[in-house]
Amino acid sequence: MHDTNKLRRAFGSFMTGVTVVTTTDKNNTPIGFTANSFTSVSMDPPLLLVCPGKHITFYNEFNTTMHFAVSILSEGQEAVSNNFASGPDNRFEKTHWHRDSFGSPIIDNACASFSCRVHKRIEAGDHMVLIGEILEFDHTHSAGLGYSSNGYFSLSKEQQADRLTRRNIIGITGAIIKYDSQVLVVNTNSGLTIPSVEQHGRHGARSSLQQHIEKLGINVTLGPVYSIYDDEARNQRYTFFLANASDESTAGIGQFIPINELDTNAFPDPAQSTMMSRFATEVRNKVFGLYIGDVETGDVHHTDHTTNNNPG
Ligand SMILES: Cc1cc2nc3c(=O)[nH]c(=O)nc-3n(C[C@H](O)[C@H](O)[C@H](O)COP(=O)(O)O)c2cc1C
Repeated sequence: MHDTNKLRRAFGSFMTGVTVVTTTDKNNTPIGFTANSFTSVSMDPPLLLVCPGKHITFYNEFNTTMHFAVSILSEGQEAVSNNFASGPDNRFEKTHWHRDSFGSPIIDNACASFSCRVHKRIEAGDHMVLIGEILEFDHTHSAGLGYSSNGYFSLSKEQQADRLTRRNIIGITGAIIKYDSQVLVVNTNSGLTIPSVEQHGRHGARSSLQQHIEKLGINVTLGPVYSIYDDEARNQRYTFFLANASDESTAGIGQFIPINELDTNAFPDPAQSTMMSRFATEVRNKVFGLYIGDVETGDVHHTDHTTNNNPG
């Protein structure tokens, strides 16, 4: 008898992209779910596979449909992924989409999409291996959203930040570390700050921060990049990640405080103060964006690439 949670964590260490797999039911109503079990299979004939679990609401529909589609999500589409992985109601009302030539839904702004005819279904334990023959596909140049058990990641945005940091700009990398509904803050003489460290050598923001966290001795898993901004006056580039602590220990570097009691005015750095108020709002709304800009203005990149100009 194997340990299911351990196996899930082991599978989760394989980094993937994220897709939304869709079809229609007998009333032509769109249905779909988030899947990272996507694999390209064959060039000739062109085949791909995904693995719908027997637990999903619309398993029967995927077990009987003749057509389905796979949309590979772009960076910034975390909320689309979360939408299609929770609460099966109204998923398509919360997302921009269109139909392919065969009627299957395609997610707008996906970085690639494939329209398939079912080639073969293989029952495999608690999942089905659904192999599709690609009849039509589309591809853009946007970067794909990444996923591992640590959460989502946006590799191209991180690499972009790291490239700029190497041009003699001082890189500061930090993390908004969450445990339950609390966040880790560091008390300084002038007020609160977020755990952070200066990047060194040729290490990127993520690996510098990972090393710093290991040195501190706190049990933290780094998630997606959350905010990248420049402070031109100080010739600095800041990269902040979201992170989860596996327990409440802080190794003496600060304290966990409830997010809904966070006084964002207690952060003397205005950019951090704005970032933390955005974070508090997004925790409430359960939708996270990626901020790219400078200390005063920039864009928050959300689902469907909507933006606003609030710094943070
Ligand atoms: C990143 C990610 C990848 C997922 N991959 C799969 C998958 O490959 N197969 C699967 O059956 N469920 C997968 N899921 C879980 C389903 O998306 C989730 O159970 C969804 O709610 C199922 O649809 P339902 O709510 O209509 O049952 C994944 C979820 C996430 C967040």
